[in-house]
Amino acid sequence: MQTKQIADGIHMLSMNVEDILFEGIWSIANGVTLNSYIIKGEKTALVDGVIGWDGAIDTLYNSLKEIDVDPAKIDYIIVNHMEPDHSGWIDNFKKINDKFQIICSPKAAGLLDAFFEIKDNVTAVKDGETLDLGNGKVLSFHLVPNVHWPDTMMTLDEETKTLLSCDMYGAFGKIEGHFFDDEMTDQEKKKFEEEGIRYFSNVMGTFSPQVKKAVEKTEKLDVKVIAPGHGPIYRKNPQDIINDYKRYCGYRMGKGKKEISILWGSMYGMTERVVNIIKELIEKEGIAVNSLQMPYVNTSDMVSAIFRSAGVIIAAPTYEYKLFPPVAVALDEIGRKKISQKAAFCFGSYGWSGGAQKEIVELIDKYKLGWDFVEPVEFNGRASDEEMEVVKNGVIELIEKVKKVSEHQESCG
Ligand SMILES: Cc1cc2nc3c(=O)[nH]c(=O)nc-3n(C[C@H](O)[C@H](O)[C@H](O)COP(=O)(O)O)c2cc1C
Ligand SMILES: [Fe+2]
Ligand SMILES: [Fe+2]
Repeated sequence: MQTKQIADGIHMLSMNVEDILFEGIWSIANGVTLNSYIIKGEKTALVDGVIGWDGAIDTLYNSLKEIDVDPAKIDYIIVNHMEPDHSGWIDNFKKINDKFQIICSPKAAGLLDAFFEIKDNVTAVKDGETLDLGNGKVLSFHLVPNVHWPDTMMTLDEETKTLLSCDMYGAFGKIEGHFFDDEMTDQEKKKFEEEGIRYFSNVMGTFSPQVKKAVEKTEKLDVKVIAPGHGPIYRKNPQDIINDYKRYCGYRMGKGKKEISILWGSMYGMTERVVNIIKELIEKEGIAVNSLQMPYVNTSDMVSAIFRSAGVIIAAPTYEYKLFPPVAVALDEIGRKKISQKAAFCFGSYGWSGGAQKEIVELIDKYKLGWDFVEPVEFNGRASDEEMEVVKNGVIELIEKVKKVSEHQESCG
């Protein structure tokens, strides 16, 4: 765990976690940070914590001692969010500190009882309520419900205008040296944009309308530093990450980068041959292609690529009268994430009955995604030269749509 002073009286304690599936689903090849914060006034508050693993908890206690905080003397635990990646340690903390008060949202108070049977010494705060730690440290609490759980809030230090934003403005990706936006190289910034989109699309994407409201709330707070529960700290220009989060909200509603994601699968190469040809065609048009062969690509990367792309192509054969199952599974996840209004095109090979294309339409309808489809193409066995031309024309039509959507995106900032 690394510790760093991030503002007057505020220290960050950051732990890199790897080799887990985040939320039990998402592969995090580049890890993730769990960031806790200590705020020192006359009294001491700890904001968010770590996951409930023994090793992680001991590391937290040792790191607190490094910054001269005796865990047994912490006065307040501020639970911005009850999800166990931040709050899993609280049960253990009760064993070493019997006096602390918990400050949290009303929804989190109910969850504290449900998860840890904690009812006593819990103060549920209203939106905008404050807590005075003494020595000029006054904290205010800002409820941002349903940015994926109903309980989340952000904590603002009124003195330094440092916002401890929990999952809001978070990103995947471990941090080895550079914690602050102004320390990061261009390469690190690029990495954290990618990791930020992957985090947003995997964890919060479904809830983009509520995230948008949380962003609007942040903009009224005159924030100078944004310190999330996962990922880097933004102190040079916090507006950058606010703008990024606004942009990501748009990605769920049809906007996107000038990229086309091809979600595809193939058993014996009939569909794959066509995928390879159109991939070249799209790249020649100056549009980046994300080739997502299912089931080889993990769900985290697949969701992230589809989410950020202005255009999507689904290319899959018929299997047992229906859509090739790994592609159907991927599309089902895209539906659950409500990734809507994408410009799209689909094609695939069949042997005798067809059925894949029909199921694609059914899945898009089932989840009410409202994708804007170019006419689909289904070919028998190997695509003939004529069928190949029809597919290419479909792709060109999609490229035109993508250019319009991504240009619109750029002009919206
Ligand atoms: C296990 C299996 C099940 C299949 N089920 C169907 C089917 O129900 N209806 C159909 O039209 N074709 C079916 N096919 C034929 C494939 O759709 C056809 O071979 C197609 O060309 C495969 O394209 P690919 O090489 O890109 O996978 C099936 C093929 C396999 C191997
Ligand atoms: Fe969370
Ligand atoms: Fe989290």
